[in-house]
Amino acid sequence: MKLKIALLAGDGIGPEVIDQAVKVSNAVAEKFNHEINWESALTGAAAIDAVGEPYPDETHEVCLNADAVLFGAIGHPRFDNDPSAKVRPEQGLLKMRQKLGLFANVRPTFTFPSLIDKSPLKRERIEGTDLVFLRELTGGIYFGKRGREDDGNTAFDTCTYTRAEVERLARKGFEMARQRSKKLCCVDKANVLETSRLWRETVQNLEKDYPDVEVSYEFVDAVAMRLIQWPNAYDVLITENLFGDVLTDEASVISGSMGLMPSASLGEKTSLFEPIHGSYPQAAGKDIANPLATVLSAAMMFETAFGLQAEADAIRTVVNKSLAEGVVTEDLAEGGKAHKTSQVGDWLAEHL
Ligand code: IPM
Ligand code: MN
Repeated sequence: MKLKIALLAGDGIGPEVIDQAVKVSNAVAEKFNHEINWESALTGAAAIDAVGEPYPDETHEVCLNADAVLFGAIGHPRFDNDPSAKVRPEQGLLKMRQKLGLFANVRPTFTFPSLIDKSPLKRERIEGTDLVFLRELTGGIYFGKRGREDDGNTAFDTCTYTRAEVERLARKGFEMARQRSKKLCCVDKANVLETSRLWRETVQNLEKDYPDVEVSYEFVDAVAMRLIQWPNAYDVLITENLFGDVLTDEASVISGSMGLMPSASLGEKTSLFEPIHGSYPQAAGKDIANPLATVLSAAMMFETAFGLQAEADAIRTVVNKSLAEGVVTEDLAEGGKAHKTSQVGDWLAEHL
């Protein structure tokens, strides 16, 4: 198969972790006789420096013309403490999600047999965890009206959802639950927020179309607690943009490291695959960041964008093998030998 993949490395550790995902993808392509045509494009602070815009039109064209997008990370500290900055790297990511219509962000949470004891949570609580968040990605407070009033002394961000936005995300959730354990949890704050009441009402109306799926409705604060108390209680969770952002960082603790969790963003056009972690600027250029979240995002890409299951499984198998054999970066080394980012990538490509 011929695969055309847009490569958006972005900022911070983005380029380093992307390099490893490329090595592993090329090794898979060789093993299974595919031909990958990579096309790199600029995003984030790197794009602001080069052309003054975090998601330039040329980058959008590259994404539209590709079969899938593999994305690294976005964000640079020089913008974080500068409230006056007009253009921010993160705007590039949001613009890209919006322009590509990526409304459904799939964020699985699972454990790795050899890492169960790396999690600060007790083994008996997390063993066998296999859940997936479906985070709404192009609506809500991230994209609502915002601004300042009162000479800058009052700020506001508004959260808006339409029934159609909720419904298309919820249908994906129902369908995903059908392929899994047939349990769907709608996470909201319907005891307080009007948008949450619309979510609940919309999901309730869809229940009749999916009678085989068992639906529960839980408040986000309760889910934040239960998620790390009894993660096994969950299968598919659907939620709005901001709640999903917060809960998926929390959920990564179950797996043992933020550097492990991949994601897929699906929608109307090209799908995008990216680690859930950020640009980790303190580690940029040091060759120490964990590349596995990006490598596992490439596995999701083979599976979801190209329907190549054996290829995805091969990546997951070699990742498990590297963990079992202690070929890990410093976040997982704990007294043992810490490997460099590039060494982990080389090892994976060699052992595929
Ligand atoms: C994520 C990130 C982004 C988000 C930031 C970088 C804008 O935290 O993908 O989870 O909040 O969506
Ligand atoms: Mn986040």
